[in-house]
Amino acid sequence: MESHGYFRVPPQIINISSDITVNEGSSVTLMCLAFGRPEPTVTWKHLSGKGRGFVSEDEYLEISGITRDQSGEYECSAVNDVAAPDIRRVKVTVNYPPYISNAKNTGASVGQKGILRCEASAVPVAEFQWFKEETRLANGLDGVRIENKGRMSTLTFFNVSEKDYGNYTCVATNKLGNTNASIILYGPGAVHDGSNAASRAMACLWLSGTLLAHFLIKF
Ligand SMILES: *[C@@H]1O[C@H](CO)[C@@H](O)[C@H](O)[C@H]1NC(C)=O
Ligand SMILES: *[C@@H]1O[C@H](CO)[C@@H](O)[C@H](O)[C@H]1NC(C)=O
Ligand SMILES: *[C@@H]1O[C@H](CO)[C@@H](O)[C@H](O)[C@H]1NC(C)=O
Ligand SMILES: *[C@@H]1O[C@H](CO)[C@@H](O)[C@H](O)[C@H]1NC(C)=O
Repeated sequence: MESHGYFRVPPQIINISSDITVNEGSSVTLMCLAFGRPEPTVTWKHLSGKGRGFVSEDEYLEISGITRDQSGEYECSAVNDVAAPDIRRVKVTVNYPPYISNAKNTGASVGQKGILRCEASAVPVAEFQWFKEETRLANGLDGVRIENKGRMSTLTFFNVSEKDYGNYTCVATNKLGNTNASIILYGPGAVHDGSNAASRAMACLWLSGTLLAHFLIKF
């Protein structure tokens, strides 16, 4: 064991970056220092998401202007020919402001249940608020319920009345910013007072939805 030629040590990671959370656009350096004889080869691999694959053949992995697709697990491997590789993982969380991915106008008849849905992607997860014109809606008041579950917020009318029809705004907020979308609750009445193309189109949508529902029930 005294001779340098026979001094062989398995690869061992001796210092590695901790899990980190950064804002989208910032620069990140991950470090993975390894020891062994012969000197281990160190590689970084991205395990999750769209940008999956080998990303660096070096102890340092530098990402400038990180994107949300580059979030997830990164794996460092230290390899030599003495023993099995030493492998460790680091989790990178990338914060980004909300964007609303789903917010559809919805039809409901008077006396029935109506549900408006608003879906927002964000890290950290978005908080939601609902407005009708300038007025903020509160859970449990005026026969509505607001429920937030992960990316989705729903506004439920237990018993739709004429005064409920109209233009609602869903606001999604996290610490990096906010965004909003307008969602219309419309009824079959839109056919009769269809003074503009928009409400006619919505009535049409409502009708085709209703017809489809009947069709599905019959067959
Ligand atoms: C690991 O590296 C960091 C950054 O160079 C250093 O601050 C820290 O003290 C090191 N930790 C150990 C256990 O050597
Ligand atoms: C819905 O509201 C109408 C008008 O306020 C009322 O007459 C009806 O009984 C309500 N229906 C239910 C299921 O609560
Ligand atoms: C709903 O309200 C928003 C903002 O108040 C407005 O931009 C949008 O045009 C309205 N939609 C309709 C169909 O009136
Ligand atoms: C919705 O977004 C627009 C444009 O960013 C902004 O002007 C408006 O105040 C927002 N509305 C609400 C209710 O937050």
